[in-house]
Amino acid sequence: MTAGNRQTVTVLGLGPMGQALAGAFLSGGHDTTVWNRTASKGDALVARGATRAGTVTDAVTASDLVVVCVIDYDAVQAIIEPVAEALRGKTVVNLTADSPARARQLADWAAQRGIGYLDGAIMTPAPTIGGPVARVLYAGPRDLYEEHRETLASVGGTAAHLGTDPGRAAAHDVSLLDMFWTGMAGVVHGFALAKAEGIDAVDLTGYAQGIVGLLPNIIADFAKRIDEGKFTADISSIQSAAAGMDHIIHAAHNRGIDTGVLDAAAALAGKAISAGHGNESFARLAQVLYGK
Ligand SMILES: NC(=O)c1ccc[n+]([C@@H]2O[C@H](COP(=O)([O-])OP(=O)(O)OC[C@H]3O[C@@H](n4cnc5c(N)ncnc54)[C@H](OP(=O)(O)O)[C@@H]3O)[C@@H](O)[C@H]2O)c1
Repeated sequence: MTAGNRQTVTVLGLGPMGQALAGAFLSGGHDTTVWNRTASKGDALVARGATRAGTVTDAVTASDLVVVCVIDYDAVQAIIEPVAEALRGKTVVNLTADSPARARQLADWAAQRGIGYLDGAIMTPAPTIGGPVARVLYAGPRDLYEEHRETLASVGGTAAHLGTDPGRAAAHDVSLLDMFWTGMAGVVHGFALAKAEGIDAVDLTGYAQGIVGLLPNIIADFAKRIDEGKFTADISSIQSAAAGMDHIIHAAHNRGIDTGVLDAAAALAGKAISAGHGNESFARLAQVLYGK
């Protein structure tokens, strides 16, 4: 503990997110030790009062709470596996994004070595960290979360503990980013089609924001249908959506634009129609995908 009774924290990994996290712990008054494979990325933090550790062992020895945030779990394992003995009895909070299965594997690895392990997913960009907009999801032992909750609050915004299954934060992360990246693929494809039709991207912007603005209500409606297994179409059917997608595919082909993403979406709608769901809500496609 530091003078103000604040917990000391170690941050491993100083990409944009690791730097933001370490900066937030410093702002929260925590003695903060940093380590990064490329040491120079810690310079600005050291200038703000962070301690630079020369080795991972020194870094994890400095604090009982070790936050790791690097590119993926291969990198996490490369960093922490060699220092497992030094981590025994401490808590690792892994804020690196990866799959739920890998989160569960790493939690098992940590448990076998007497290391406390919380898995987390950061849902907002680095500049939000430390401010009111930050959102972080955690999973793993609740007592461990409660023990470090106050320190982790320096990350800012909203934090939620989602349960003891260590894969649950990562499961939320991949599900939400599935929506995000599939949507982003549609954003750039729509802009490409507009450009090919002689429409400047800025001229499409207001309309694009309007059509994407329909999604929050659709998400709430679909969630209810998917949980209840009720897919009666009252506004638009899969059959009608498939016809709409076909028009876009033809328009893109006419302009020589790749249609891979929409082809995949149309194929999925086609599968639902073949299974007899053509007159149901588009929400049915989620059930067709997960198969139960
Ligand atoms: N940036 C954001 O806004 C944001 C938002 C939400 C979630 N996240 C998540 O936060 C995590 C970190 O993201 P980031 O933006 O900080 O940058 P990043 O590019 O995903 O990761 C960079 C960090 O990973 C380290 N690294 C990569 N390979 C390594 C290896 N083999 N061994 C040791 N260290 C290795 C880098 O070290 P070097 O500096 O030595 O290369 C650097 O510290 C990711 O999981 C990302 O998905 C980021």
